[in-house]
Amino acid sequence: MTVPATDPHSGARSLEETLERLVADVPDFPEPGVGFKDITPLLADPEGFAQVVAALATPGRDADGAVAVTKVLGMESRGFILGAPAALHLGVGFVPVRKAGKLPRETHAVAYSLEYGEATLEIHTDAVAPGERVLVIDDVLATGGTAAATIELVERCGGIVVGVSVLLELAFLDPRAKLPNTPVHTLLTN
Ligand code: PRP
Ligand code: MG
Repeated sequence: MTVPATDPHSGARSLEETLERLVADVPDFPEPGVGFKDITPLLADPEGFAQVVAALATPGRDADGAVAVTKVLGMESRGFILGAPAALHLGVGFVPVRKAGKLPRETHAVAYSLEYGEATLEIHTDAVAPGERVLVIDDVLATGGTAAATIELVERCGGIVVGVSVLLELAFLDPRAKLPNTPVHTLLTN
């Protein structure tokens, strides 16, 4: 008899169960009335972490499961935690998109809006080759500003973003409005 992967006695858990068990809801953080999703229990659980990394990497494959990107990009800083292992999972390189002034060689830079003020993200100009297909991974999609700036950086390099993959999407902020031409893959929606 085949035991389904979601059988509670099989040892394997569905992605939904993993996220439910290992992403903690913290009320009133960082300020009263705001609910925070804490992923540190997930990061501390090697099986759950591996399951989530594999799920985030899925848009980097074609319909047959073959790897269809040559780089994964992650945005400083929380995107590094999820993007780097996803790159290794797919067997492709990782590119850090960094906050202004951190990368040592020639960069492209894109400014984007934060809740208060502006910030700038940078990429090395040679980090993505013209025509290269890449997957962008971050922890949270909120206003979409960080992801939109990253897509613009890839386009400045001449690359193609096949998708943006995030653990959590704050849908009430309508981030997809800022990403009209890019498929968005989300594991959890708030
Ligand atoms: C957070 C989060 C995403 C971004 C989402 O990063 O990690 O990268 O905000 O917000 P947006 O969709 O409105 O742009 P933050 O800039 O706080 O930096 P961090 O990753 O270094 O914590
Ligand atoms: Mg971030």
